Amino acid sequence: MKDMKPKPSQMPMQMQTPTPIPTNTRTALPVHGGTDAGPPVTCDFSTNAHPLGPPPIVLDAVLAADRQRYPDPAYTALRQHLADWHGVERQRVVPTAGGAEAIRRITLAAMLAGIRRVCVPQPGFGDYAAAAQALGLTVVPCEDVAAMAAAMDLPCLVWICDPCNPTGHTLDAPQWQALEQARQRSGSRVVVDQAYEPLRLHGASALPPSLADQVWRLICPNKALGLTGVRAAYLLAPAHDDWRDRIAALAASWVLSAEGEALLMAWAQTEVQEELADSHALLSEWGQEQQRRLASWGFQVLPGSVTNFWMAQLPDLGADNELDPELDLDLDLGATRRAVAPLQPLPPVPPMPARPATTTSHSPGDVGGAEPLAPVGPLGGGPVGGGSVGVESDGGPQRPVLPGLHHTPPTTPAALLAALRHHGIKLRDATSFGHPGWVRMSVQTPASQMALLTALHQVLGPHPVARSRAVSPSLKRPADSHKDPT
Ligand SMILES: Cc1ncc(COP(=O)(O)O)c(C=O)c1O
Repeated sequence: MKDMKPKPSQMPMQMQTPTPIPTNTRTALPVHGGTDAGPPVTCDFSTNAHPLGPPPIVLDAVLAADRQRYPDPAYTALRQHLADWHGVERQRVVPTAGGAEAIRRITLAAMLAGIRRVCVPQPGFGDYAAAAQALGLTVVPCEDVAAMAAAMDLPCLVWICDPCNPTGHTLDAPQWQALEQARQRSGSRVVVDQAYEPLRLHGASALPPSLADQVWRLICPNKALGLTGVRAAYLLAPAHDDWRDRIAALAASWVLSAEGEALLMAWAQTEVQEELADSHALLSEWGQEQQRRLASWGFQVLPGSVTNFWMAQLPDLGADNELDPELDLDLDLGATRRAVAPLQPLPPVPPMPARPATTTSHSPGDVGGAEPLAPVGPLGGGPVGGGSVGVESDGGPQRPVLPGLHHTPPTTPAALLAALRHHGIKLRDATSFGHPGWVRMSVQTPASQMALLTALHQVLGPHPVARSRAVSPSLKRPADSHKDPT
């Protein structure tokens, strides 16, 4: 008897054998800067949000959002408002619950359209690759536009981040042109993530207006507005594109919260844009000062960032540094390494017997009612390794003796970052971008910069003389050391 079983390709969609979840699918969350479950952060250099926080008018609008009702599910007024501001048709504005949600949705639309290859910048924002990998798509990390154009030998989903997270680099006119040629040749869909365009501090985008109408653009105002907790962004669809309806249809109902809607409404206002533009000169000035100060600690900046963040190679921790007394005096921290305040008080110790007036004890005990100082422990950056704190008596009240040169400075980048974190300072480890020993760092206020410098003194010891590496920093790596970009 003839086998009547239909071939999989003849089966109606719902009867087809489900595609198994690919074994290489990532289950881990992408790594990000900013808030996490670790120790409290008082100075956060790891997020790229505007260091001055939200313009008051935007914060007021968000706080006044009507949370008692659903927003208009079609976001008609918002889309019209944004469309007028961008000078495009309303249908081209697609609200999303943040850029991260937009990335997932576009990738899903690409997969449903039959695309299997996703080209991502390397180094680049990890969510592009994470979204593709979660759907079993092939990710091609590309170190520059030439590599990207070469990878576009079939229709691909192509992510461009301009300015790019984490490098802050931007594409020039010839690079846009090369990309456009590859796009037309391959029939690829290009998405330009412009999350940091409003924080471009130097120059202007070279994206040709004609091309801006041919690609998808992702606008994420919450960084420039210092409101990253409000999950709101939007896509601008190309002038002619058959994905638009699908991308809109893939959204959950009321995808944008009332607060998100209020943020985007406030964003496209002249007053807000002017306030943001006015802040650029200040950010630029602070950024230069921050780079100068950190260079003297051996942080080497990757040149070329046009934004409020950049990549920097961490100081050479093994180096036998000379001290720079002038810079040390600058901070008035003296030339000795300092004890770090303990996380928790030490357990009580039995009362000490009376001691002769001039002796020094190595017992971390009674310090005349003051909070005892203690070694910090296993973070690698605290005053451990013989740096026990004693008490000194000169006939007056007893006071702690700082551990002096017994401090053991961190010897690995991870230990340095952990030690700084212990001091409330967070830097974005660039290991997940494929660059161990580097960080991505955003410009912060002068007060935060001083807190970072103080913490470096405490963690690394006296100020070293600035010394350049023999080779200036570059992200180029040997061909065999290619790493996963997420
Ligand atoms: C380049 C880039 N795009 C998009 C996003 C997503 O931002 P959000 O989801 O907060 O809009 C981020 C967040 O860091 C980013 O760096």
